[in-house]
Amino acid sequence: MSTPLLDPIPLRAQFPALQRTVNGQSAVFLDGPGGTQSPESVIDAMAGYLKSGSSNLGGPFLTSQETDAAADHARAAMMDMLNARRPEEIVFGQNMTSLTFALSRAISRQWQAGDEIIVTQIDHDANISPWLLAAEDRGVTVRWLDFHPENCTLALESLADLLSDRTRLIAINYASNAVGTINDVARVVAMGHSVGALVYVDAVHYAPHGLIDVQALDCDFLVCSVYKFFGPHTGVLYGKYDLLDRLTAYKVRPASNMPPGKWETGTQSFESLSGVVAAVDYLAGLGGGGGTRREQIIRGMGAIKRYEGTLSERFLHKATRIPGLRVFGLTDVEELDKRTPTFAVSLDGYTPEALATLLGERGFFVWHGHYYAVAVMERLGLLDRGGLVRIGFVHYNTIEEMDKLFATLQELAGK
Ligand SMILES: Cc1ncc(COP(=O)(O)O)c(C=O)c1O
Repeated sequence: MSTPLLDPIPLRAQFPALQRTVNGQSAVFLDGPGGTQSPESVIDAMAGYLKSGSSNLGGPFLTSQETDAAADHARAAMMDMLNARRPEEIVFGQNMTSLTFALSRAISRQWQAGDEIIVTQIDHDANISPWLLAAEDRGVTVRWLDFHPENCTLALESLADLLSDRTRLIAINYASNAVGTINDVARVVAMGHSVGALVYVDAVHYAPHGLIDVQALDCDFLVCSVYKFFGPHTGVLYGKYDLLDRLTAYKVRPASNMPPGKWETGTQSFESLSGVVAAVDYLAGLGGGGGTRREQIIRGMGAIKRYEGTLSERFLHKATRIPGLRVFGLTDVEELDKRTPTFAVSLDGYTPEALATLLGERGFFVWHGHYYAVAVMERLGLLDRGGLVRIGFVHYNTIEEMDKLFATLQELAGK
C-alpha cells in the first residue's frame, strides 16, 4: 500500500483545542515543538482509565489487573512506534529530562577519570546538562561537536577528530527543536560504535515529524516525549535490552531488578499510559487500515512527512518575500528532507518577545527565546539578544493558517 495523502481539515475536527478562538480570531497553533494538541481519542482514553477506576500494578483484583494491562498496552504501542525488539526495551518516565538524568547517572558509574564524552552544540539542554554534570562527577573530559552557523547543520566532518578510544558516549539530537535540522544519526551511531562508545539519541523533536526505527539506527538509547506527538505528558526511553539489564539503576529495594521495572521509579501516570496507546493508534490511523500497527505507523509517518514537506516548501518561498524576515537554519528547498517544519526567525524592528507577543494577540501561538536550546542560541550569538521566534508546524496545521500568518508578518514588516 502506498503512502496515503494527508488532508488536515477532517483531522482537525478530532482535536478540540484547535477549535479555540483568540480575540474573535481562530487560534493558530504554531507551538507544536513546545507541545502538541491531542485528539479526542487520547483525551477519552485518559478519562476512561480514571473513570473506570485507577489502581497500581500487580494486585490480584480487577482495577489492578486493568492497570497492568494499560501499562502493557502502552509498552506494546511504543515498541511498534520505535521498532524496538521487545517490550522490555521500553521504559516510561515523567519526561525526557528526568529519564536522561536517571540514565546519565547510571551510565556514568562505568566511566573513569580521563575518559571522554561528546555532546553537541545543536542539542536541547536536556541532552547536554545531564552529561556535563555526570562528566564533572566522574572527572571525564567533554568534547563539543559544533554546527555550521550559516545553515545550522552539524559539523560531522569534525566528528572523527573528536573520537578516540577513550570516548564513552555520544549524546546527539535527532532533530533540533530550535532550527529544525535533522541530523544524520545513523552515521553518528556507526562512528561512535567504531570506537566502542554508546550513543544516546534525543528524538523528542523528531518524533512527530518522521519515522523512528531504533533497529535501523542501531542506537543504544533513544528518548522521546509523548506530548510532542499528540499524546499526554509522559517520557519514553528505548534502550537495548542487554544495556538496560546490565547497567545498575538507582532504584528502591522492592522494585524489580529486571528491565523495564528497575528503571521505572515510583508509580507511573497510568492515565497517561492509556493516552500513549491512543496517541500511537492515532498516528497508525493516518496510515490507513491493513497490515500490522507498525506498518500503519510507517505509512502514517510517511503521510505526515510528505504533507509537512509541502508546508516547509511554501514557508521558505513565502519567507523570502517578507522584508527583514530572516530564517535561521536550512532554507534550501532542495534539502527539505533534512529539516522539520520548525522555523526560527527574526524580523527587523522587533525583538523576538515583541514579535511573539504581537502574533499571540492575533491568535498565532509561537514561542520566543531559546526554548532550552541554549547552546544553539549561544553559537548563533543570540543568547543575550532574546533568541529567536520559533514558528513550528505539525501535520494539523493548514496552508490557510500559513497564508494568514504571512499576511500578518507582511503587515508587521511594513510598520
Ligand atoms: C529536542 C528536545 N529535547 C528534550 C526536550 C525535553 O523534553 P521533556 O519536556 O520531556 O523533558 C525537549 C522539550 O522541549 C525538546 O524539544
